[in-house]
Amino acid sequence: MSGHDVTLEWPDGRSETVEVGPQETVLEAALRERIRLPYDCRKGTCTACVGRVRSVGEDHDGSDESPDAANAVDYRRPPRALEESDRADGYALLCIAHPRADCRIEVGPMVRSQLGDSPWG
Ligand code: FES
Repeated sequence: MSGHDVTLEWPDGRSETVEVGPQETVLEAALRERIRLPYDCRKGTCTACVGRVRSVGEDHDGSDESPDAANAVDYRRPPRALEESDRADGYALLCIAHPRADCRIEVGPMVRSQLGDSPWG
């Protein structure tokens, strides 16, 4: 199984596309490509790395069903810093997130401020 192309989008209009391998998280793939993203704990507990899935492309895993923004990623470990409602809104902790399909994700510190106060913050 190959990876998925994830397009990272910043509020200033910049975007970068990285291929995230099957064993990689979005953050790991971005760092490998020397793309700077905010992060801190890398364990899913702080929200520093949070992004918001904007759209999900074709699912290349052979299934007919494309995941929507709320389940565009699988997690390496429980995303403790996110509420269910945050996940339903498309927020994803990129340090522990494996994309399930090609997708576009809004990134940068602004996304975290939209998320609001985290009890883990
Ligand atoms: S870096 Fe802390 S949740 Fe991702």
